[in-house]
Amino acid sequence: MSIRLFALLSVVLCICVRGDVTLAQHVAASPASSDWNSDLPLAEAEDINPDPRIVEVNMTAKFASVEVAPGKRVNAWTYNGGLPGPFIRGKVGDRLIVHFKNELDQGTTIHWHGVRVPIEMDGVPGISQPEVLPGESFTYDFILRDASLYWYHPHVFSAAQVGFGLYGALLVEDPDDGVGIDDELTIVLSDVGFDRTGKLEPADSGGPAGMVFGREGAYLLVNGKVMPTLRVRSGAVQRWRIVNTAKSRFFFIDLDGQTFTKIGGDGGLQEESVTSDAMLVTTGERVDVLVTPTGKPGSSLVVKAMLYNRGYGSVEYRSVEDLFTIQFTDEPALPKRALPKITRTITPPSGVNATPIDIVLTLPPQDANGQSEFHINGVPYWKAKPFRAKLGETQLWTIKNESDWDHPMHLHGYFFMPVDEKNQPIRPMLWKDTLNVPMKTTARFLVAFDERPGQWMFHCHILDHAEGGLMGTVVVGDVPTVEHIHKTGG
Ligand code: C2O
Ligand code: CU
Repeated sequence: MSIRLFALLSVVLCICVRGDVTLAQHVAASPASSDWNSDLPLAEAEDINPDPRIVEVNMTAKFASVEVAPGKRVNAWTYNGGLPGPFIRGKVGDRLIVHFKNELDQGTTIHWHGVRVPIEMDGVPGISQPEVLPGESFTYDFILRDASLYWYHPHVFSAAQVGFGLYGALLVEDPDDGVGIDDELTIVLSDVGFDRTGKLEPADSGGPAGMVFGREGAYLLVNGKVMPTLRVRSGAVQRWRIVNTAKSRFFFIDLDGQTFTKIGGDGGLQEESVTSDAMLVTTGERVDVLVTPTGKPGSSLVVKAMLYNRGYGSVEYRSVEDLFTIQFTDEPALPKRALPKITRTITPPSGVNATPIDIVLTLPPQDANGQSEFHINGVPYWKAKPFRAKLGETQLWTIKNESDWDHPMHLHGYFFMPVDEKNQPIRPMLWKDTLNVPMKTTARFLVAFDERPGQWMFHCHILDHAEGGLMGTVVVGDVPTVEHIHKTGG
C-alpha cells in the first residue's frame, strides 16, 4: 500500500472511530408557539445598545472547555466561551457593531461569511485588515443589508481555527418576508475532533492526505451538542435555517424520509420553493427549509447525516451518522396543513457582455517530498496573481473542477447567480455565495461587481483545501493590490 493511501486510510479510520455518547437530556425551552418545544437553543449574543436599529455586541476569542455531550468536554477555541459562538440576530437595515478582542495565543480575525460588507470589514489579514494579535482588539461595524442566515469565522489558519470551534451564526431577519411560520429554528451543523482528555485533534492530522481529503471531526455537533433532542408536536410546520460551519464535512440530511421544502439559501429567499427527500448542505452554505416532522405522538425519530460522495474517503468505510432526535410530544398530531407559497422576484445579472473568467481546479500528483497542493489555473494561491474586475463589471465565471474532489467555492463580498451552459439562470433562482462544484464537473455563475471596490477572496470552503492552495483573490476597481502570501486562510 502506498504511503499516501495508508495515510488517507488512517484519516478515514480516525474519522470513523467515535466514542460512545449519551443523548443530551432535554429541558423545556421557551415555546415560540403552543405546540413548539426545543432544547436546541443557541446562546444569543447580548445586545448592549438600546437603539433598536443597532446591534452591538462584545466578542472575545478565547480558549474554553465546552461540554458537547454529558460528561464529554473539549478544550475548544471559542467566541465568548461557547460552541458555537454567540448567535447574533438583527433585522435587515440594522447596524452591527462587534467589539472583538483576541485572547487566544495566535493572531486571528473575523470574516462575515456572505455579508455584503465594505472591504475594511471583510476580516482577511494582510488584505483587508491586519491580523488581530493576541491581546489586541478590533471593532467591526457595518450595515446588515440583506436578509438571510450568515455566519462568522476567522480567516487566519482557518482550517485549524474553524475546526477548533471558532464559528457562529448571524441571522438577518426581514419581518416582512411573508413566510409566516412561527416555529423557527437556526441550526448550526459542525464537527470537532478530540481525544478522551478533551484535547483537540491536531489541525495537520493525516498529513498531506488529510489535507487532500479535508479533515472531519468524529463528533457531529448540532448547535454545539452531540445528538440533542428537538421536541415538537407532530404535524407542526417548522422553519429551519441551517448553516454548515464544519471545516470539511458535508451534511446530507435525512429526516426519516420526510420531505424538505427549500425556500431559500445563502442570499435569502429563492424564486420559488422546491421539495426534496434529503437536503445537502456543503461547507459554508446555508439553506432555509420548511419541514413538517410527523410521527405517532410520544414516539421519536432520528435525523441523520447520510453518505455523500465528495471524494475518496467520504463514503468508503463510512456509515450513516445520527444528528439529532425529534421527540414528538403527547399532544395529538396536527392535521396536515398546506405550506405557504413562498416566492421572490429576482432580477439576475445580464449575461450579455459579461466578461468570461475561466477557472480550472486541479490536484497535481504529490511532489517528491510527498506534499500536495491544489491549483487554480495551474498554481496554488501563493503563486497566483489576483484576478481583476472593473467597478460595475459583470463577469461570467466558469469553474471547471478536474480534480477527484468536490469543491464548494466561496466568493467574498458579493452574491452571484448560478447559470447553465447557455448562461441562463438555474431555476428557481437563488443568490449564492458558496457553490459546490462536484468532482469532474463544471459550474458557472454571473457576478456583478457593481460596488465596493477592494481585493476580495474566493476559495474552496473545505478549509483544508483552501489552506492547500485552493484560494484566489479578485481585485475590484482601481485599488491597491496586495500580493498573495501563504497565511490568509480559507
Ligand atoms: Cu467563509 Cu473566506 O470564508
Ligand atoms: Cu475543495
